[in-house]
Amino acid sequence: MNVGFLASGRGSNFKAIADHVRLKVLKDVDLRIVVSNNEKAKVLELAKDYGVDSVVFPYDKANREDFERKAIDEMEKYGVELVVLAGFDRILTPLFIRHYKWRSINIHPSILPAFPGLNAQEQAWKYGVRFSGCTIHYVTEGVDVGPIIVQEVVGVKWADTAETLADRILVYEHRMFPRAVQMIADKIVEPPEPGDRKVKMVLTGEEWVEWEKEWDKRQEKYVVFQEEEWEKAGKPLKSLL
Ligand code: GRF
Repeated sequence: MNVGFLASGRGSNFKAIADHVRLKVLKDVDLRIVVSNNEKAKVLELAKDYGVDSVVFPYDKANREDFERKAIDEMEKYGVELVVLAGFDRILTPLFIRHYKWRSINIHPSILPAFPGLNAQEQAWKYGVRFSGCTIHYVTEGVDVGPIIVQEVVGVKWADTAETLADRILVYEHRMFPRAVQMIADKIVEPPEPGDRKVKMVLTGEEWVEWEKEWDKRQEKYVVFQEEEWEKAGKPLKSLL
């Protein structure tokens, strides 16, 4: 499955997916192109490091479709079958959304429908919830409202700040986003029926348990790598999680 990214910033979710491909955790997936609206985005350097092409198009809020038309053309050129929104900081118009209906996914750092919009981790922390997490959903018209493919719950600790909570959620974003991509590549999830919002699972209960078991086993390799990376960054997962 050919994957294209829309990304504006740090690019840690792009990197997590690219590491899953590199470590052969994520299979049958080809990362083709990163499209950005920000020439200074760190994700562009990361794309280069991982040998993925990238392109930047200017973004004018008064004419969002201009950017989107260029993005669609570029994605088409690269044969993109799934668009991954990995920290794309602009709202898409129906032009892009309709073109990639059921072929684009987004990650949001809360358990939707709680805390949609900006600074979701801080919203959750300020509200005082005892659990938050992350959600991967199809992109539909409306912000953070698309049918849900994957969610992971993350506990809030008494000593948390908005930042430590955001870090803990990010660790799980990096594990769950690749998993959602694999589920789509394996064609085991299908969009909801019209008028419904429940994503459909193709596998039987037992088959799904097997799928998860196999995925978790493959992903161990990434988890070890992730632990090393966070350790190097001075935030050992032993104390964060
Ligand atoms: C992540 O927290 C993601 O959930 C949200 O934007 C952030 C992007 O971070 N949609 P990165 O650019 O992937 O590091």
